Amino acid sequence: MSHRAVATIDRKALAHNLAVARRHAPESKLAAIIKADAYGHGLVPCAEALNDADLFGVTTVDEAEQLRRAGTSKNILLMQGFIDKADLRRIAHHNLQLVVHRADDLAMLENEFCKIAPTKPLTFWLKVDTGMGRLGIKPTEVERVHLALRRQPWCHDVVVMTHLANAATPDSPLNSQQLLQFARSCQPLTEFAPETSIAASAAMLSLDNAGDWARPGIMLYGSSPFAWSDSQRRRDQFDLHNVMTLKAQLISVRQHEAGDSIGYNSQFICPRAMRVGIVSIGYADGYPVTAANGTPVVVGNTRTGTVGRVSMDMLTIDLTQCPHARVGDLVTLWGDALPVDEVAASLGIISYQLLAGLGGRVLREYC
Ligand SMILES: Cc1ncc(COP(=O)(O)O)c(C=O)c1O
Repeated sequence: MSHRAVATIDRKALAHNLAVARRHAPESKLAAIIKADAYGHGLVPCAEALNDADLFGVTTVDEAEQLRRAGTSKNILLMQGFIDKADLRRIAHHNLQLVVHRADDLAMLENEFCKIAPTKPLTFWLKVDTGMGRLGIKPTEVERVHLALRRQPWCHDVVVMTHLANAATPDSPLNSQQLLQFARSCQPLTEFAPETSIAASAAMLSLDNAGDWARPGIMLYGSSPFAWSDSQRRRDQFDLHNVMTLKAQLISVRQHEAGDSIGYNSQFICPRAMRVGIVSIGYADGYPVTAANGTPVVVGNTRTGTVGRVSMDMLTIDLTQCPHARVGDLVTLWGDALPVDEVAASLGIISYQLLAGLGGRVLREYC
């Protein structure tokens, strides 16, 4: 490995996980969520590997344009709606699908799209806030906004969607409350039988009701949306395959004495004589500075842990149990041998943050 830090992305695992997603929502179409550079895995290569999906979900018009430039003609959904009304022209040009989450946008959309006169009418996803408390129109506004959109010449179709706040806690009564609220919100639309979209990964893996469109994200990348402490809901239990393996190089190996201090703020003091390795990855690469001493890493086949505070470009690990480790050896930060979910749990964060936060200077390689 000539690069200081490399994330190897397994395209077959992505395709496999998409097939797992289909098995969990056999009646639904799949919107593969590849926003945030496919959760840090690389937008275009992941889109290619997930070509069996029915639609791609992204956040920005730039991401959608990147996909179009790469040649995809698949439907693309802008999941956060639009930010600047100047984007609407690009949205119409690329025939993107658009989430509408503010009732107040109707008049402006009407004004702008009448001017733009899209050559092909667009599909809108009307987002209803049934309890997430984030984006979405109120349940009482659904009928009015739905009808107002439907009658526009530039509107091809309206999908009605919601997002569950507690799906990663399948036993939470808040899930059925949101599902009920969503069903009630859709009731006035019965005569139109609109397509619906409810479930992201956690709901797909634990609840029955995905809607006509399921929206899997994290499960495609081989990570379980459930807490690591829930051993029955880890990636292996769902037959999800690991996608990203992140490795960096040992760039120095040193022998320290008991009482030596390691790194900034002397976060670690050697309790005994020990071998310490310096690894070429740091917080500027997305490895969290908050990692406590003992955050797991793997050297060869040996699990060991970090010692001392993570620096911008490097981190330090205990090599006492790895007497043969040498400069140039590879250290696995997460991957097949060390689930990203476990690393995230030991950092007190979620896998989404580790994956999507991986820095641009980490080389992505595809196999
Ligand atoms: C509206 C919406 N749908 C689907 C997803 C995918 O969620 P997950 O990665 O948990 O499957 C997200 C993720 O942020 C989302 O915001």
